[in-house]
Amino acid sequence: MTNENRKPIMAGNWKMNINHLEAIAYVNKTAYMLTEKDYDRTDVTIFPPFTDLRSVQTIVDADHLQITYGAQEISAFDSGAYTGEISGAMLNKLRVKYALIGHSERRAYHHETDENVNAKVKAAIKHDLIPMIAIGETLEVRQAGNAVEHTLSQLVGALKDIRSNYVGNAVIAYEPVWAIGTGEVATPQDAQDMSIKIREKIASLYSKEVADKIRILYGGSVKAGNVKAIMEQPDVDGALIGGAALDPDEFVRIIRWPDQP
Ligand code: PGA
Repeated sequence: MTNENRKPIMAGNWKMNINHLEAIAYVNKTAYMLTEKDYDRTDVTIFPPFTDLRSVQTIVDADHLQITYGAQEISAFDSGAYTGEISGAMLNKLRVKYALIGHSERRAYHHETDENVNAKVKAAIKHDLIPMIAIGETLEVRQAGNAVEHTLSQLVGALKDIRSNYVGNAVIAYEPVWAIGTGEVATPQDAQDMSIKIREKIASLYSKEVADKIRILYGGSVKAGNVKAIMEQPDVDGALIGGAALDPDEFVRIIRWPDQP
């Protein structure tokens, strides 16, 4: 990544792993390993399950850690009779920084549509959370030659009626569904090619300034052994990491991507 205006982000998506006691050990261990130099080079964020957030907040606050944390989901609603949902206001109270929205597992298992994603992006912004919007194509869509069209239509759907000052601060995670949890990593060139298409689309919807500012992450089977080549692509500004981020040692190696061979 070459644009000095965009600081890289390494984001660990824990999914439904790591309970709150394990989270405390994880954050302590990771914070112990990370140095000022690491934080200067890269923003570090984790997406624990909801049940861990209070514990994570307590350690981050008490020890003034530079690790930030996000929620894996957010309700489109502010409050009310929505059993099982968690609102942006509740997340804001826990000083959650990011809301992950539109992850392919939510789209697949919870039938989330681009309209749902857009409503959640609005809810995140309303409650001062930064939306991290996941988009990306399935294998069938890629094989049919429609990867770019499909991914950009998810992007447009997610950003409907969102004003440009919010878009520049948002984060896009390009995650080809066929590369998630499969060990089947997209090539660095695949990641770059889609990132540039996403950036061009944002420039056409908003402005070049907004497109130059927004951070675009790649996600899908990222690990210490492949992160550097991905991060060397000029339009890739970080990674959203699932499986490999469950191990603090491996997560720290990923955060130190410039030092990898
Ligand atoms: P993975 O998951 O790194 O295990 O492929 C990435 C994600 O789903 O965000």
